[in-house]
Amino acid sequence: MGHHQHVHEHDKGLRANLHRLRQIRKFWQSDTNRAVTDLVDVQAGETVLDIGAGMGPATVVAARKGATVIAVDPSPMMRKMLSFRRLGQRARSRITVADGVAESLPAADSTIDAAWTVNAIHHWVDLEAAFDELARVLAPGGRIILLDEDFTHPDHPLYATHSGHEDELTNVVVDEIAASLTARGIEATGELTTMAGVPVKLIQGAKTL
Ligand SMILES: C[S@@+](CC[C@H](N)C(=O)[O-])C[C@H]1O[C@@H](n2cnc3c(N)ncnc32)[C@H](O)[C@@H]1O
Repeated sequence: MGHHQHVHEHDKGLRANLHRLRQIRKFWQSDTNRAVTDLVDVQAGETVLDIGAGMGPATVVAARKGATVIAVDPSPMMRKMLSFRRLGQRARSRITVADGVAESLPAADSTIDAAWTVNAIHHWVDLEAAFDELARVLAPGGRIILLDEDFTHPDHPLYATHSGHEDELTNVVVDEIAASLTARGIEATGELTTMAGVPVKLIQGAKTL
């Protein structure tokens, strides 16, 4: 019995570590991030914004597609990691790592052809300010994708490690977000769907004005 208990505890530790490794790998490279750059249809020569870029899984893909990328993140640690990663990229001259938050974006008015945020909206502290900023920086016709993997969905592979933290984070209600964006001239729709095999909350839009 004692022995069995020991093995069981050991196994639990292993599983927890595997979960952690899987999460760290996801910060570096993720199917969801790649899918977002496809969906927002990043084109060579465009100027694009990765908001809450983290270690840059979408930033590096977009730069390889030929876009000029402003990777925004408030965390000095994340910016350090991404700046280091940038050096190893063939497309590094097209990547700028910038300090900023969704609520105050380091970009001039009407200069951004496409912007996205992956797994960061729940960290935004002031959604209304963030939407104002998106409306400000997007060029006419500029596209946006706001995507949060739905870790609260039992089908999500990382459900077990994430559940229980919801109350600490901003609640992401796709219809409300889409309506707020549309009211600011970014025609948007929200849906609960799956992307790259995981449940997600997805808002897509384009600036009409
Ligand atoms: C879970 S990570 C996701 C990083 C990356 N987008 C990805 O998919 O791997 C969330 C990121 O949002 C950043 N963040 C936190 N608050 C933010 C804010 N107010 N505006 C923009 N980004 C924020 C964090 O520093 C962190 O790098």
